[in-house]
Amino acid sequence: MIHRIAPWCLSQSRYNSVMTRVLGIESSCDETAAALVVDGRLLESNVVASQEDVHRETGGVVPETASRLHLRAIGPVVERALSEAGRTWDDVDVIAVTRGPGLAGSLLVGVNTAKALAFARGLPLVGVNHIEGHVYANWLVEGVEPVFPVICLIVSGGHSDIVLMRGHGQYERLGWTLDDAPGEAFDKAARMMGLRYPGGPSIQRAAAQGDPSRYPLPRAWLRPTWNFSFSGLKTATLRTVREAGDSLNAADLAASFQEAVVDVLATKAVEAAREHGANTIALAGGVAANVALRQRVQELSGGPVLIPPISLCTDNGAMIASVGYFRYAAGERSALDLDVIPVLPITERAAS
Ligand code: KG4
Ligand code: ZN
Repeated sequence: MIHRIAPWCLSQSRYNSVMTRVLGIESSCDETAAALVVDGRLLESNVVASQEDVHRETGGVVPETASRLHLRAIGPVVERALSEAGRTWDDVDVIAVTRGPGLAGSLLVGVNTAKALAFARGLPLVGVNHIEGHVYANWLVEGVEPVFPVICLIVSGGHSDIVLMRGHGQYERLGWTLDDAPGEAFDKAARMMGLRYPGGPSIQRAAAQGDPSRYPLPRAWLRPTWNFSFSGLKTATLRTVREAGDSLNAADLAASFQEAVVDVLATKAVEAAREHGANTIALAGGVAANVALRQRVQELSGGPVLIPPISLCTDNGAMIASVGYFRYAAGERSALDLDVIPVLPITERAAS
């Protein structure tokens, strides 16, 4: 479990009655998470129960197992988010929950918990989009705030988007993946190389000892679009593994693979920012935890780059609380018949 508390937030918010404290609940994939965030920016607690160890045995997420584990974890995780922050239910103003995209069975656990709590406590409920949550992790970075227009590179296990954001909740999807999301490509490539799940951190670790120029791997630039494709890279990686046989140097292949993904993601994000006159480049999603990607975007960009701390890049409740606050402030509310939406683009409103 990850527990994050920023004590300065506690003292600041305790005496200011106009602040809005949101409980964010997240269960879209394999992390059961809850957090308390004030005014969309001030993190009071962030509790994540990861199922990673269980899914490692099967080499990926088994949906039925995931939802069963969410059921077991959700109650304690929510209670812990309150206690870690030193708060009670009387301090909570709004409940925000991920309603999609994600695994239906997993989403249902979070949504039904949030609905039950909202009903029992008489609190407003806001259903939010998980991808939007990843973007809003950038509003939780202490001391800085994205300045619109923002180019967001959203890269995770299930998503791959370049989005132009002109204001809160205003998204123009410039590009997306034509096949795999980059996190998915990391996970599949890691399996080919005999590295453990989840593949992103394993490849990053192995790549640290490897030579990125050892195995030449293709890049799908797909210019003049802002789209991505990773299937050619995946096929080339598999061919390299097969051709090399016992002589394969997994560290070199991990480094070459990571370099190919980072090259395309960072270059396209920075080019999109230049072309659209963005004031900030914001990284979001689990793959934004990749150190090589973070460094490359910083190097290529002449302007400000916002990158949430690694614990806020992978799935968490704080990002859901943050976007929930901004949606609530914009007047959005969800009814108690809120249902899950497993396929939900960032451009679609999630509240109603
Ligand atoms: O955002 P996330 O936690 O869940 C989804 O919404 O998909 O992202 C999980 C993905 C996994 O595919 C994982 O391999 C990848 O993010 N990931 C990384 C790193 N840490 C996690 N990929 C590359 N480098 C990392 N350090
Ligand atoms: Zn995610």
